[in-house]
Amino acid sequence: MPAALANLNGQTMPLEDVKVSALDRGFLFGDAVYEVLRVYRGKPWMEREHFDRLARSLASIRIAGVDVDRLRRRTHETIAAGGFGECIVYLQVTRGAAFPRKHAFPKNAVPLELLWVEEYDDTKTAELRQRGAGVVTHPDMRWHRCDIKSTNLLANVLANQAAAEAGAAEAILYLPDGTLTEASHSSFFWVAQGNLCTTPHDANILPGITRTVVLRLCQRADVRVRECYLKRDELAGIDELFLTGTTPEVLPVTRIDAKPLGGGAPSPVTRRLQSAHAEVLREFLE
Ligand code: PDD
Repeated sequence: MPAALANLNGQTMPLEDVKVSALDRGFLFGDAVYEVLRVYRGKPWMEREHFDRLARSLASIRIAGVDVDRLRRRTHETIAAGGFGECIVYLQVTRGAAFPRKHAFPKNAVPLELLWVEEYDDTKTAELRQRGAGVVTHPDMRWHRCDIKSTNLLANVLANQAAAEAGAAEAILYLPDGTLTEASHSSFFWVAQGNLCTTPHDANILPGITRTVVLRLCQRADVRVRECYLKRDELAGIDELFLTGTTPEVLPVTRIDAKPLGGGAPSPVTRRLQSAHAEVLREFLE
């Protein structure tokens, strides 16, 4: 296991020492929410936005009594205790353990608060950012509250596995009417007829934090972004598409369902936003 340091309910320990009850509702029901943060040179990126989203997710599934600010402090303490530089923070809060197993909320369960920090090697993703990645399209089999960052990720897992089996990096999901929503663990933007577009923020997608970063970068550069839906059968007519996410950052897509996009190489708007993203990160680390 790579170096990883955890904090379970306030106690710091190596990740491999974390033990969670079989009765934990995160394990039994997926009754839990989570966050993933990228840390650059020991500094958590878009920290406020991630903890605000965690607070929203907790409120949405009605897990009460979790001090999100305390989780934020524990995150900092764990990064410092492990002397981490380039790393990822995974946080998960479940509704806790209860017996007997019953679907409705138990009266006395205490939420379980787990986080860990693990080293992150960006080499492979950095290569993809240069070359561009392939994606497949896959049915969106998720529920009606994809705006909540819940650990119920089976549909995302199956979609991403389909991508992996096709030699692609991601799966872009479509609803029964062909509407594309987002990717299995990233958001996406596209360029068509000179317009930069992304899917509107509603219950069909997670409000991606990197998506917000890109929207802010566009505002700063006076680039208009249209929030609208793209249909699967319209993919043939687009000029560019890129993924956004905490670890991919801004990732050009150069193949969709094995067909080349933009001549099979990253295109100008994507390249411009990649540079703007790199620049804002440089400013953050100054
Ligand atoms: N995934 N959409 C989905 C369904 C996601 O799971 C994620 C993040 C994103 C991008 O969000 P952000 O820019 O805030 O990382 C969009 C995380 C990282 C994961 O599940 O590992």
